[in-house]
Amino acid sequence: MADTRSSVAVKEYPDAEVQKNRVLTLEEWQDKWVRRHISFHQEQGHQLLKKYLDTFLEGESGLRVFFPLCGKAVEMKWFADRGHSVVGVEISELGIREFFAEQNISYSEEPIPEISGAKVFKSSSGNISLYCCSIYDLPRANIGKFDRIWDRGALVAINPGDRECYADIMLSLLRKGFQYLLAILSYDPTKHAGPPFYVTDAELKKLFGPKCTIRCLEETDAFKEQHREWGIDCLFEKLYLLTEK
Ligand SMILES: C[S@@+](CC[C@H](N)C(=O)[O-])C[C@H]1O[C@@H](n2cnc3c(N)ncnc32)[C@H](O)[C@@H]1O
Repeated sequence: MADTRSSVAVKEYPDAEVQKNRVLTLEEWQDKWVRRHISFHQEQGHQLLKKYLDTFLEGESGLRVFFPLCGKAVEMKWFADRGHSVVGVEISELGIREFFAEQNISYSEEPIPEISGAKVFKSSSGNISLYCCSIYDLPRANIGKFDRIWDRGALVAINPGDRECYADIMLSLLRKGFQYLLAILSYDPTKHAGPPFYVTDAELKKLFGPKCTIRCLEETDAFKEQHREWGIDCLFEKLYLLTEK
């Protein structure tokens, strides 16, 4: 794994296995939205993405950008406003409707014929499409290939036992010359059950290493007072860039 970060000396925890059997159901996620347990949402958007956005886009226009487990991430509008086309997937219909309402974007909705009960919400200008279904059903909708993936709160949110399936789906959605920007968290997994779940460097290498070059761009101290509720006093965020091998 290539490493260009400035050294903050983020330690690896040996006990990642303690979270491996933890499962959250889709209903539990939908319920978080109803109960407003959505502290993962960042109203100002993600600061590391802001910092690396121009590098990530490489001055290209008309890119297709995928947001797995998108919630109501404001960053989707950053890409759309720059002329790119955004596709997201999110199990909470409430989250999707809130995105369009809060960003003042008019939209229409239609069923996804290939996935029973699922819907796609499309901005009137056609450059943002949010699929309301499970990421694991999404491949049936044939949504095409992407130039970029922004993965924040996604790999770290899926159940640890589903990571291989998730990584296979991500890799199947990428086209030649892709860039996949991935933010993960590092904390002592014996203290907090997750989500977000702890993902080790070794796990990343196992999931994406065979197909991707993995470069750590930055490690930042992400600890806030609110994290004391998790029983931790130390939290780092790591930003990785995955490119085609
Ligand atoms: C931690 S939040 C992150 C949201 C967003 N990426 C952000 O940065 O704000 C994870 C989101 O994934 C959704 N989710 C969880 N499991 C999912 C699945 N299997 N398929 C689609 N969405 C899912 C949840 O409803 C939740 O909104």
